[in-house]
Amino acid sequence: MQIFLDTAEVEDIRTYAAWGVVDGVTTNPSLIAKSGRVFEEVIEEICSIVDGPISAEVTALDAEGMLAQAEPLAAIHPNVTIKVPLIPEGLKATKVLSGRGIKTNVTLCFSANQALLAAKAGATYVSPFIGRLDDRGELGMQLIEDIVQTYRNYPEFSTQVLVASVRNADHVRQAALLGADVSTIPPKIMDKMVKHDLTDKGLAAFLKDWESAKTAS
Ligand code: G3P
Repeated sequence: MQIFLDTAEVEDIRTYAAWGVVDGVTTNPSLIAKSGRVFEEVIEEICSIVDGPISAEVTALDAEGMLAQAEPLAAIHPNVTIKVPLIPEGLKATKVLSGRGIKTNVTLCFSANQALLAAKAGATYVSPFIGRLDDRGELGMQLIEDIVQTYRNYPEFSTQVLVASVRNADHVRQAALLGADVSTIPPKIMDKMVKHDLTDKGLAAFLKDWESAKTAS
């Protein structure tokens, strides 16, 4: 499974990219607003840090407007992936962008039928938001299972399942078990994924034994 970082904070991106495990980055208007920086500048800087798909979201609500916004964003770097909302106008824009060879990430997906439509429109990625389904008592991970199975049934679909709205490390574990293509992960969850108390205890014991052996010899 590929790992994308779900953030627009470039210092965090530098930190986790240095681990050598980051395949791409996703941003959204909320994350860009939180960074307090100019949209295009942030996307350009992220592209200089991570050599992989970098999602930049359009904010227009009509296909024509989405395409007009997509053009300068796609021109920033070949890795820029245009994120469009899963609404009829977004599907129209996705179809056109995919015809132009521009990568797309169809976002705000909350049902398998929406994911089916995204694949039909030629989306590169579809982003089901599992945390937001969990938040209202639905099973986000069931949606991932449904989409993965749907896409497997039709090998002609090339759309990749990008698990988004990840809220904890167990979401990542389950997404990987289900065979999702990508999980986009908030930085703080990367820390939770790498950490294990037995790793820390084991390491401390190894180092203590090593020091005692050196003192004894
Ligand atoms: O990038 C979109 C998505 O991951 C948002 O997550 O936590 O705002 O539901 P969240």
